[in-house]
Amino acid sequence: MPSTAIVGLQWGDEGKGKIIDSLAAQADVVARYAGGNNAGHTVIVQDEKFVLHLIPGGILHDGTINLIGRGLVVDLGALIEEIDGLSARGIPVEERLRLDGSAQVIFPYHRHVDGLVEKWRGKGRIGTTGRGIGPAYADKVARTGIRVADILDEKVFEQRLLAALAEKSAVIEKVYGQAPENYEELFETSRAQAERLRPLIVDGGALLRDASQEGKRILFEGAQGSMLDLDAGTYPYVTSSWTGIWGIAGGTGFPPNRLSRSLAVTKAYCTRVGEGPFPTELFGEMGERLREAGNEYGATTGRPRRCGWFDMLASRYAAELNGLDGVFMTNLDVLSGFETIGVGMGYKTPQGEVSRFPAEFSSLEQVEPIWIEMPGWSEDITSVQSYSDLPETAQDYLRFLEKGLGVPIERVSVGPDRCQSFLGENGQENLW
Ligand code: GDP
Ligand code: IMO
Ligand code: MG
Repeated sequence: MPSTAIVGLQWGDEGKGKIIDSLAAQADVVARYAGGNNAGHTVIVQDEKFVLHLIPGGILHDGTINLIGRGLVVDLGALIEEIDGLSARGIPVEERLRLDGSAQVIFPYHRHVDGLVEKWRGKGRIGTTGRGIGPAYADKVARTGIRVADILDEKVFEQRLLAALAEKSAVIEKVYGQAPENYEELFETSRAQAERLRPLIVDGGALLRDASQEGKRILFEGAQGSMLDLDAGTYPYVTSSWTGIWGIAGGTGFPPNRLSRSLAVTKAYCTRVGEGPFPTELFGEMGERLREAGNEYGATTGRPRRCGWFDMLASRYAAELNGLDGVFMTNLDVLSGFETIGVGMGYKTPQGEVSRFPAEFSSLEQVEPIWIEMPGWSEDITSVQSYSDLPETAQDYLRFLEKGLGVPIERVSVGPDRCQSFLGENGQENLW
């Protein structure tokens, strides 16, 4: 029955991992619906750090089923490594994890092509995570992809892999001048990986629809952010999947009209990894200061994240698209010590000033933000446990963002640990 979506409102890394983990305590099922191991979702529990890439963020909770939905592209080797890593830390992963047999598989040739294409793009590169995401989704759309369940049937797999490799090897050899893929090795490795995962493989859509019928609580976990969405994001500097709530139905098999709440996570400022337009980016000392204060280095690739002030236009656009009911505001603590805090409220474009996010993204590279400056605060707020204990200026900053976004701030997060968050001024206790 109650089913809540938690998506990223910006360019990813908003703190979804932390928020999903904290809500998962009340969920029966947590389902990922898009992306792959390009995601890096951090959960910190009493100084113990977990970075999840493919495994959904309810995995630390007893009694929660974690589904990797059919909309993902799954690197089976990376998944097994993640399962083994968590199991070694005492988490009964295999009891709690399920994998939809219809999810697409990322093979080594996808990773290989991801790297080759990025190199070939040169200055025009996207700055991908190099995990093979784009090439695997391209194969899915071209109908040359291979699904997890296909590997379980030796004959089907043989036929599909031979067909796929005929094309991939030709491209790798003839276009990029590299050694072709080894069929036997790939066949054997993938078969062994799929057999290992067999007990976890299910019809994920049926699992979710049944759970909903039984009145269970489902949490849908977004990966990446709405501004990296294939259609809604800053194309072509996007990922290759549908990251907003519109990706849930296709990426899981759960009917869209059954979704009860749309929530999103946003930082109290903005970050982006990889290339592409970022209107409110800060350069030089200020950008560096934000990066160091927020420890803004990628959870997947370790790359320094580009940092900037909150972008009201982009965030409002993403809030509209997701039909948002509320937001989680993370990393407010990182802003402590800044004398003033900027918010981008509009853009100056070659065609004049705009106060709505432009549909024409190619011009975004040239826009200049129209800033408003808010007074900062100097106090360390990482131990604050309630809204009213925040410094006045921090409360005013949140009120300003809430008003601009037009939805309530449900929770405020003031540190990476599970327990460092509290109810927003207009937040509701019950999010289901
Ligand atoms: P995700 O991809 O959206 O799950 O986010 P990441 O895990 O990639 O990046 C978010 C980073 O911010 C992680 O290092 C988190 O531990 C950290 N984090 C989450 N919430 C907060 C917060 O409120 N304050 C601070 N300082 N760090 C946070
Ligand atoms: P989470 O779930 C931040 C970015 C990459 C690159 C672009 C395309 O942790 O928020 P891809 O490898 O997907 O083809 O790369 O998307 N990107 C992310 N940035 N957080 C992520 O995930 C990301 N996943 C992909 O940096 O710019
Ligand atoms: Mg991340």
